[in-house]
Amino acid sequence: MRSRPATRTPLGQLLAQRIRESGPLTFAEFMRECLYNPEHGYYSRAEGRRFADFYTSVDVHPIFGRLLARQLAQMWERLGKPQPFCAVEAGAGAGRLAKHVLDFAARELRGFYAALRYVAAETSAARRAAQAAMLGPHLEAGRACSAAELPAEIPAGCIFSNELLDALPVHRVVHAQGELCELYVGLDGEEFCEQPGPPSTPALAEYFHAQGIGLVEGQQAEAGLAACDWIENAGRRLGRGFLLTVDYGHEARELYNERHMRGTLLAYEQHRASEDFFRAPGERDLTAHVNFTALDLWGRRAGLERTGLVSQAWFLLALGQGNEFADLYDEGQSEAGRVRARLLLKNLIYPEGMGETFQVFIQHKGVESPHLTGLEPF
Ligand SMILES: C[S@@+](CC[C@H](N)C(=O)[O-])C[C@H]1O[C@@H](n2cnc3c(N)ncnc32)[C@H](O)[C@@H]1O
Repeated sequence: MRSRPATRTPLGQLLAQRIRESGPLTFAEFMRECLYNPEHGYYSRAEGRRFADFYTSVDVHPIFGRLLARQLAQMWERLGKPQPFCAVEAGAGAGRLAKHVLDFAARELRGFYAALRYVAAETSAARRAAQAAMLGPHLEAGRACSAAELPAEIPAGCIFSNELLDALPVHRVVHAQGELCELYVGLDGEEFCEQPGPPSTPALAEYFHAQGIGLVEGQQAEAGLAACDWIENAGRRLGRGFLLTVDYGHEARELYNERHMRGTLLAYEQHRASEDFFRAPGERDLTAHVNFTALDLWGRRAGLERTGLVSQAWFLLALGQGNEFADLYDEGQSEAGRVRARLLLKNLIYPEGMGETFQVFIQHKGVESPHLTGLEPF
């Protein structure tokens, strides 16, 4: 049976109409619409389908948020315990990670909690609305608030995200006949199709040049210009403190090596990944691996320095081993519950789970060579 043409979803129809009227779209524009169109975008809807297509470390066990809270509390100490300390979570979704961090801080890190101003920043109004139920007591205590975007000024604190940057739009390019070409989204009858053309912006060539990357003949790649803008913009808003990014990705030399000749862009639906990016626009998640080298370079433009890059397994083990992962357990938990918690932790730290796929990248600004437990050998 032939599936319905891609142009038949409500968003597909809108995008097809735009292409008929004004010509092909850059893939970044197509992806932006698929994920963030205010009415039909994948992330604009409430999280009704959560777990249907993917789950993140936050969903595995609260230990991820609890250990992150310990790292944030240490950052607060390294900054001289400022009041307030702004913990700004970008792409906070419905507020699950915020709840884990805040609940743990309120219970175990009281001094830090008293100084904390947690901003759960989320563009999607539907997801932001869900934060009220998730964060109730912390909102009432004045320790947390929801926001549509990052605060304009963050005098002292940490801006952090989990799986945000892989969901920012990317341009697609191919190196063909010695030239850098862009891969646009065009129309072939009722289907979207790939359409090569000259680069839509000189920023594409500059992006690869700045990182010393030369693609080989026939190689396809993504250029995450939106992630570069995001990190530079976030860095400028930060007075003193840290930027912490958890995501899957690589340094540029690995991201653009011969193992990734077709790039890393994937469409996700019901936990299945495919390269069929054009199917059902607005109904599937689209993601590309994060380029940590680019985050470092563009962060420097805003005064951010590289603190370190480690795997998620390293980060969690380094933070958890201090008290032998006692933070894993809830008060009064049964032995069966404790065994289950230990099994879930393995998913977060084992190489074949999320442990080695996900990386933790930390940058700092206005702090002298900070030592952070999450980056230290254990
Ligand atoms: C892949 S989801 C991750 C959600 C959450 N961090 C988690 O771990 O479950 C990315 C989220 O980032 C949000 N988002 C995208 N761009 C954003 C931006 N510039 N500022 C704030 N949120 C953004 C999306 O609406 C979406 O909810």
